[in-house]
Amino acid sequence: MEQESQLTRLGLFDARVPRYTSYPTAPHFAGDVGPMEFAHWIEAIPEGASISLYLHVPFCRRLCWFCACRTQGTQSEEPVRAYAETLLAELRLFKERLAPGVTLSRLHWGGGTPTLMPGDMMRRLADAVFDAVPMGEGAEFSVEIDPNEIDAERIDALVESGMNRASIGVQDFDPQIQGVIGRDQSYEITKAAVDMIRERDVASLNADILYGLPHQTPTKIADSVQKLLSLGPDRVALYGYAHVPWMARRQTMIPSDHLPTPQERLKLFEVARELFVADGYDEIGIDHFALPTDGLSIAQRAGKLRRNFQGYTDDQAEALVGLGASSISRFPQGYAQNAPATSAHTAAIRADRFSTSRGHRFTADDKMRARLIEALMCDFEVSAAELVQDFGADPEELSALFATCAEHFGDMVQVSAEGLRIPVKARPLTRMIARHFDAYDLSKAGHSSAI
Ligand SMILES: C[S@@+](CC[C@H](N)C(=O)[O-])C[C@H]1O[C@@H](n2cnc3c(N)ncnc32)[C@H](O)[C@@H]1O
Ligand code: SF4
Repeated sequence: MEQESQLTRLGLFDARVPRYTSYPTAPHFAGDVGPMEFAHWIEAIPEGASISLYLHVPFCRRLCWFCACRTQGTQSEEPVRAYAETLLAELRLFKERLAPGVTLSRLHWGGGTPTLMPGDMMRRLADAVFDAVPMGEGAEFSVEIDPNEIDAERIDALVESGMNRASIGVQDFDPQIQGVIGRDQSYEITKAAVDMIRERDVASLNADILYGLPHQTPTKIADSVQKLLSLGPDRVALYGYAHVPWMARRQTMIPSDHLPTPQERLKLFEVARELFVADGYDEIGIDHFALPTDGLSIAQRAGKLRRNFQGYTDDQAEALVGLGASSISRFPQGYAQNAPATSAHTAAIRADRFSTSRGHRFTADDKMRARLIEALMCDFEVSAAELVQDFGADPEELSALFATCAEHFGDMVQVSAEGLRIPVKARPLTRMIARHFDAYDLSKAGHSSAI
């Protein structure tokens, strides 16, 4: 109770804050980063380096009402085939600029629904990726799989192409909630997808589940979590449902009167969290859970957990290249985002140039603050010495920054000569504390609920 009143006083239940999958956050990207910068930043990747690659497939057979991802519905294969050709051409452009000997540490196919592609198309795409940049040792190839949009033939294509981490979307198992969010998916269908994945010895399985959905109660979320646990995922993302109908028009189909209050959202998260922890999962950052054998847990124990656009990662690569419409790349020099619309993206690639439409070039201050925020989001603490030594932070300015944070958050942060720590009781405030160190004006961006 005391914790809740403290959280209330600090504004947790009213605030809207970024999820800090990047810093600066995407609304601050601008048009001064274009195809030239993107090409130069690819060329600057050193020979023999290890990089990550993200491929975006912005199509789905069904459009779930809750979904805020950039995707479009299609019933025919035609636009998907045309888009796959664009990706193949984009991979060729990418390969032309890449230094020799570069290998992949991570390959991720996301969307949308990449498994909407027929098996032969997925094989061609995977071959083209590995022709441009081969998998390095211990590399991970993960694919987002909608359990409603998969069968043995397509799983075989992915497994034979080297997929070793499957990521399934669950959201919630309750039929009433599924009806209201426009995503029917029986437990049996989800289990059938998991069985197909496990039978083929795919090394790891991720699952996404949501809290904060309409009609969700502590009993209902507990039931969904138990069902998910029975499927034995290695890693779970427990995302807070972001209700942002002004950005994701589909969400206007979801009546807001049955959404849980922010206080109820916190309770729903807690109920789910306790079940994962009781079942032996480690808590990873603000919203992930992983078995102790999973790469995320291992990275967390080693202090090597990183934050990226997918949430959390154990990937240490300096460059993450995003191909496909709307994909974001991260380089040591800055961020670059491709044209969001499939048509504009395709037109650029057909004209033999990248579609980069905006981005952000890092300043020294950005890099320091990006590391500070990433450390808080991953480890709930940040070392002052690291910021001074590795990012050239001024010790006095840093102390002043930490002091104003402590002034605002009181005993919800612990400041010492070593740095700043977020105690366990204050973890729900992590994104708000991170925001304290964000130097950009956040007032215009429509972020989601702080909890
Ligand atoms: C690209 S989508 C899903 C992949 C696949 N198409 C599927 O449906 O299973 C990735 C994840 O984003 C999350 N997501 C989508 N919309 C969201 C929202 N409004 N709030 C929070 N998470 C959301 C969901 O958990 C979803 O599984
Ligand atoms: S949740 Fe998956 S299937 Fe549904 S609209 Fe979003 S990306 Fe498409």
